[in-house]
Amino acid sequence: MRKKIVAGNWKMNNDLAETQSLISDLQNELPETEAEVMIAPAYTNLYPAFEALKASKIEVIAQNMHFAESGAYTGEISASMLKSVGVETVILGHSERRAYFGENDEILAKKVDAALANGMRIIFCIGEELADRKSDNHFKVVEEQLKNALFHLGAAAWKNIVLAYEPVWAIGTGETASPEQAQEIHKFIRETLSSQYDVEMADSISVLYGGSVKPNNAQEIFSQPDVDGGLIGGASLKAADFSAIVKAI
Ligand code: G3P
Repeated sequence: MRKKIVAGNWKMNNDLAETQSLISDLQNELPETEAEVMIAPAYTNLYPAFEALKASKIEVIAQNMHFAESGAYTGEISASMLKSVGVETVILGHSERRAYFGENDEILAKKVDAALANGMRIIFCIGEELADRKSDNHFKVVEEQLKNALFHLGAAAWKNIVLAYEPVWAIGTGETASPEQAQEIHKFIRETLSSQYDVEMADSISVLYGGSVKPNNAQEIFSQPDVDGGLIGGASLKAADFSAIVKAI
């Protein structure tokens, strides 16, 4: 049975006091759920968040990491540094990292290997730009993103990988993919995994949807057979909205 997951990607939002306040609200408002619930604060807030939530069911995860173990990489954070503050899961390949910080498939493959070498779980983001979808090239783009950063892995490594399909044109725009659009490409992703590995492995991988998930659309998206939860941006910054989305899984 695939894990159901709702993860909040806070992006570059919330200072320490705001982080502590939102965590307090989440502890009061999040509903009981069988799903895994995660939040991804900014680096500076990871340890306080971990300390505040270590006795809870909310997992604190990172938004990124570097592939090097240590060294002259000013401003960067390593997997072992994340582990040292209690973080066991990291988001990699987010479209904003690809677009603004030049993270290509080669760099992302190195980050994947470094995270796995440190025993971390990965939420790996894939998704097409609007131009790709308009030119009906979205399947090819997603397939290439999978192949170039992940298909060097053996099947066993995938026990530590969650995928997040995030169409770039739906991120932060309010233009959510329709449930049918989400299901179509999630099914394609699973078929691509099945071709590369096998059906049993493909059926075991949680594939999350991200891109303008809100309380009023979460249930219809999450009810799709190949959607196993969501990676939530803007709506994760409001305890009531994030709680409503968790309730919908
Ligand atoms: O990583 C999740 C994020 O990219 C989705 O953002 O604001 O469209 O929910 P948003």
